[in-house]
Amino acid sequence: MTKLLLAVLALAAAPLLLRVAGQGIGDGLPFAVGAAPAGCDIGQGEWVRDEAARPAYQEWECPYIQPELTCQAHGRPDKDYQQWRWQPRGCSLPSFNATLMLEMLRGKRMLFVGDQLNRGQYLSLICMLHRAIPDGAKSFESVDSLSIFRAKNYDATIEFYWAPMLAETNFDNAVVDRVQDRVIRGAPMDKHSRFWKGANILVFNSYLWWMTGQKIQILRGADNDMSKDIVEMEAEEAYRLVLYQVVRWVEHNVDPKNSRVFFVTASPTHTDSREWGDDTEGGNCYDRTWPISEAEASYSTSHQQAMLRATGEVLAGSRVPVGVVNVTRLSEFRADAHTKTYKKLWAEPTPEQRADPRSYADCTHWCLPGVPDTWNELLYWKLFFPANDQVL
Ligand SMILES: *[C@@H]1O[C@H](CO)[C@@H](O)[C@H](O)[C@H]1NC(C)=O
Ligand SMILES: *[C@@H]1O[C@H](CO)[C@@H](O)[C@H](O)[C@H]1NC(C)=O
Repeated sequence: MTKLLLAVLALAAAPLLLRVAGQGIGDGLPFAVGAAPAGCDIGQGEWVRDEAARPAYQEWECPYIQPELTCQAHGRPDKDYQQWRWQPRGCSLPSFNATLMLEMLRGKRMLFVGDQLNRGQYLSLICMLHRAIPDGAKSFESVDSLSIFRAKNYDATIEFYWAPMLAETNFDNAVVDRVQDRVIRGAPMDKHSRFWKGANILVFNSYLWWMTGQKIQILRGADNDMSKDIVEMEAEEAYRLVLYQVVRWVEHNVDPKNSRVFFVTASPTHTDSREWGDDTEGGNCYDRTWPISEAEASYSTSHQQAMLRATGEVLAGSRVPVGVVNVTRLSEFRADAHTKTYKKLWAEPTPEQRADPRSYADCTHWCLPGVPDTWNELLYWKLFFPANDQVL
């Protein structure tokens, strides 16, 4: 890194670091190798078709993708959804460089923590990196809640820890989820977080599992049988409570001098085509093969604004900076990119369902390669090219 860049970064980061961590001028952000231009908001921009740069990898050449996300292997007839690149408005940033990322991860541990959308982003990242690592110098294993990808010649691991609501719950290992019996522990989260200690880059998410439309049962205190002292809360209130626990854990366990923490915002679903102005009876993502245009997107979306606000508000209060990777808005345009019916299904569709594929189309999860590759590009920019005027 050049002296000038260092100085620029340090200047930008100094007031914040001084305030949050008592650090001196010149510390910069760990992992930064450059800076985004001033005023660059990478979440604002447009999807451009770019058949030279996309897909970032081929579905068939990445062995780590789960069969729930391999759309081509499950008969998806079109590939258009693979060919879009996100172009931030008015700023041009270096494109994803797997070698650079691996070199920066040398001797380090990167960990994703969250739900299946976060796992999709994790799998996307190892697909984006693995071609730069020779065969025999990489491995992948999953045991219980933890998956570990090793880049042996870099002495680096990239891991995923399954904790869909981040906090401990009574269904963490459940095969069948009985939504109405869910209980979430509101108090310390060591059952999961002991696996997070020592990570140099942490990438959290959590949103989908809170959106049951029901109140959430929270267990207070440290009771072991998860049955006593339960209070019911609105989802937003319970979500805030758990995010506060995560922030508290980060403040006590993460050293901002050599680690970075990110939170990926809500991944939108496309279960109702009226949101983009298509009034077809029962319409959803199924018929969509092209992104939603700016004009169509002016229709309302189904997000709960209160939940989205909660994420930003709680994280902004953290004494250890938490970078927000804001994927919500840009993913809203991508009704075309869900797995729909082209995925491994856990039950054979009934004849009635087959007659109307929309009825069992998955409009929540994303095909790989696809939209999560762009989330990783955003993460890459935030990690290695943070904006001077927007340190987080
Ligand atoms: C990617 O990064 C590596 C390591 O920093 C560098 O040598 C290489 O030139 C970069 N590749 C591109 C295409 O920029
Ligand atoms: C993400 O971006 C959207 C739209 O640009 C904004 O409304 C929302 O507040 C942002 N979320 C966070 C947590 O910053």
